[in-house]
Amino acid sequence: MPNTDPYRRIAGVYDRLIEPMQAGVRRVALDVVPPQPGWQVLDVGCGTGTGLAPYVEAACRVNGVDVSAAMLQKASARLGDHANLQLIEGDALPFDDDHFDLVTTSMVLHEVPLEARVPLAIEMARVTRPGGWMLLIDFRFGSLRGWKGPTFRALSVVIERFSGHYSGYKSFKGSGGVPGLVENAGLGIDQKKIVAGGNVAIYVVTPTS
Ligand SMILES: C[S@@+](CC[C@H](N)C(=O)[O-])C[C@H]1O[C@@H](n2cnc3c(N)ncnc32)[C@H](O)[C@@H]1O
Repeated sequence: MPNTDPYRRIAGVYDRLIEPMQAGVRRVALDVVPPQPGWQVLDVGCGTGTGLAPYVEAACRVNGVDVSAAMLQKASARLGDHANLQLIEGDALPFDDDHFDLVTTSMVLHEVPLEARVPLAIEMARVTRPGGWMLLIDFRFGSLRGWKGPTFRALSVVIERFSGHYSGYKSFKGSGGVPGLVENAGLGIDQKKIVAGGNVAIYVVTPTS
């Protein structure tokens, strides 16, 4: 757990600042894996809980973990009793094997230190039931499309520098992004959806190694 919370100053404005870029990605992710009532869902690095809200609406049983107390406070205000929220790191999840129908993480992996990324992916796979879904959403470093791609890429680099996560962004890029991580974790990619003009991709990952 970091000594200081890098999100303590920006949690209050996070949604206003970032959600306009994220909303389209979230909609596509919900199309890729439509939530079913009663599903056990876990969001690793749930932040302010914006990504969990549609799963609450779909009558899923909703869980979120995050290392930022400030972000979790926002999530708690948004989701109230509808979500089980815990202040913990994603690479040591306090859940049984095969517990979840869907385990997701969005725009978190590039922030996780290089040495903790593979353990985190393996941990996510451990708690996903066989035949369940693992959704990894993060920056993609291939070619860009239209006006959105270069615009979102430039904005992302500025935001990552400003927020102090740029070294993580660079190491994530250098280690092959999500495809590199999935390979190093001994997992496989079932499906890929490129969004945000190519700056972000949604990966459906097989939760068995
Ligand atoms: C860019 S925000 C994304 C938040 C949310 N997933 C969303 O899509 O709006 C990254 C979040 O990941 C959290 N985070 C970073 N490293 C983490 C880790 N090792 N375990 C759990 N959460 C982590 C941060 O505290 C932050 O809330």
